[in-house]
Amino acid sequence: MGGAEGDPTPAQVARAVRERLEVCRLFGWQVPLDRGRIAPRPPAAPPAGRALSSATTPRVAAPPPAGPASSKDRPAREAALEPIRLEVAACTRCGLCRTRTQTVFGVGDPAARLMFVGEAPGYDEDRQGEPFVGKAGQLLNDIIRAMGLRRDEVYIANVVKCHPPQNRAPDAAEAGACLEYLERQIEVVAPELIVVLGAVAAKALLGTAEGIQRLRGKFHAWRGIPVMPTFHPAYLLRKPEEKRKAWEDVQLVMARLGLQRPERRRA
Ligand code: URA
Repeated sequence: MGGAEGDPTPAQVARAVRERLEVCRLFGWQVPLDRGRIAPRPPAAPPAGRALSSATTPRVAAPPPAGPASSKDRPAREAALEPIRLEVAACTRCGLCRTRTQTVFGVGDPAARLMFVGEAPGYDEDRQGEPFVGKAGQLLNDIIRAMGLRRDEVYIANVVKCHPPQNRAPDAAEAGACLEYLERQIEVVAPELIVVLGAVAAKALLGTAEGIQRLRGKFHAWRGIPVMPTFHPAYLLRKPEEKRKAWEDVQLVMARLGLQRPERRRA
């Protein structure tokens, strides 16, 4: 039996509670609960716009506006990234080339609607040649999953492509030398939205000296693409009490992309 028209059904309430618990499990118990009316389920019809990936099942509530990139196909973008990747692999623009095991270019869907930009590869990334594969990467995966996405549906890259020794932050000269590679990656992927992770990435991409606490929570822009700065996952591992703010940022991103949290699947 349903309630008055517009009221959530018991199944909708149960699903909303399950979703809240899942978000709290991922982001910590400080996540604010939405005590308002539970939004009705979005229509099940597939979106007309570009999906997050060709492999994506329909999860986008509102069709996104066709961006300039939507006419380019995935293999073309893959092919366009390849010469940049090769250039990066041979790069000697800064001293990090002497200590790296390998360069760490980027990973994910070259036609992704959403791109994450981190700071620089850590120890694990230097060994494996892929961004965000260590502990911070696991939390980033959790964040991506909490958005209802898979890691292979987004594109992930760093400002700096080589691991700075002793896990130090890259300096301004290193970030400056490498930034052009990231800019070219962004131009090829042409995401609808970029999430920059942490102050170093935000500073490099947005050219601002503002701290992440002031930058986060609002959209900025890079060459017309909306950019949401938020905390770096490594920072969230050290300061779990900040996860609530990160979740707020993620929700703004989801709303902008028309993403819905997925239903938790039964085993
Ligand atoms: N931190 C980053 O900023 N990037 C990575 O790839 C891993 C950790």
